[in-house]
Amino acid sequence: MGANCQIDKVFMTPLEAARMLESLGASFEEVVGAYLRASESGPHRAEALWAASRLCRLNNKFAEGYEYARRGLTVERHGDGLGAQDWIYDYGLLDEFAVNAYWAGAYQDCLDACERILHERKCPEAKRPRIEANAAFARQQLGIRPSSLFESSQRYFSFDRYTKERRYYQKYDEIFRAKNFSPATMLEVGVHQGASTKVFASVYPDLKIVAIDLNTYDLDFAEFPHVTYLQADQGDQDHLRSICEEHFPQGIDLVIDDASHIGYLSKLTFEAVFPYLRAGGLYVVEDWATGYLDDWPDGSHYQEFAVAMHGGLLPKRFPSHDCGMVGFIKSLVDLADDIKPRVRAPHTRTHMIRSLEVSPGIAIAEKA
Ligand SMILES: C[S@@+](CC[C@H](N)C(=O)[O-])C[C@H]1O[C@@H](n2cnc3c(N)ncnc32)[C@H](O)[C@@H]1O
Repeated sequence: MGANCQIDKVFMTPLEAARMLESLGASFEEVVGAYLRASESGPHRAEALWAASRLCRLNNKFAEGYEYARRGLTVERHGDGLGAQDWIYDYGLLDEFAVNAYWAGAYQDCLDACERILHERKCPEAKRPRIEANAAFARQQLGIRPSSLFESSQRYFSFDRYTKERRYYQKYDEIFRAKNFSPATMLEVGVHQGASTKVFASVYPDLKIVAIDLNTYDLDFAEFPHVTYLQADQGDQDHLRSICEEHFPQGIDLVIDDASHIGYLSKLTFEAVFPYLRAGGLYVVEDWATGYLDDWPDGSHYQEFAVAMHGGLLPKRFPSHDCGMVGFIKSLVDLADDIKPRVRAPHTRTHMIRSLEVSPGIAIAEKA
């Protein structure tokens, strides 16, 4: 048996004893005392300090937990020891340190620790959202405004199936950056529990947001005085027009339709609201692929339509899957036409859309 193994045994015995005390339900003081004695007998190992820090957190003794984790972080790792728990050294201590630091009011330490965990990428992927959220909470306490929608979504994200996935915010960040687009006014159609409204509101403190939903809840937007939350049906064109007239006398920069995902209703919204969009403004329709769902009210599984020469003549018509939202999005292409010279195509629709980007989950029309 090597010398290191002997040293580790001297540490592991009191550590196991402390763990046993904890599992038997001994008092907080007894268990923490046992972990600290284990740490003293093996100062080259950090597992006992991690366990003491965790126990403090579970007992709301955050200042103590913060201190034990801080001490644990100074322990230099010496290869594989007997019973060593690598993950504690990889991210476990930093994680305990961050959470205890937050509740002890040491927000900068919390943020630094979270950012280190995220940067070093040694923690399991499944834990990243929680650590990102902790970082976002610390940033908020420090008065650091999130610099992107994706970052802000760390703070407001929930696993609620009706709220949008975080990749959508990444897409918005990309598009806005590429177009140098910074909206001053926004109409959000479909609010649910307000997650996306808060994500936008926190990144753009000067953005006037009107957020409408068929079903309104008791949502708290007190933190965001620039948000107006209203009840409205996206199929009620008169109501939509009156909202636009009243709240957006200068026009709208950004519209996001994340409401019913029913083609007909989304088209009604588009017809009523698009005229209020400013030139260069973005009209976004989310989750348009509901048109491919058999169990969606106006959807159906994907259907192919054959196109062939007929009697030696070129086919003029290209029928395609056009159910619900899919048909609506395809119809937007008609508004993006730009046939020149116009005299050759007098019946061409008005050139209303400058660009149309259709990607999985999101279709973005830029007004001409
Ligand atoms: C997908 S959720 C919105 C999620 C939210 N934008 C987010 O990302 O956190 C859809 C919302 O649209 C609303 N909705 C459904 N039909 C509607 C309609 N006809 N008019 C307005 N809102 C509608 C629902 O009440 C629901 O809250």
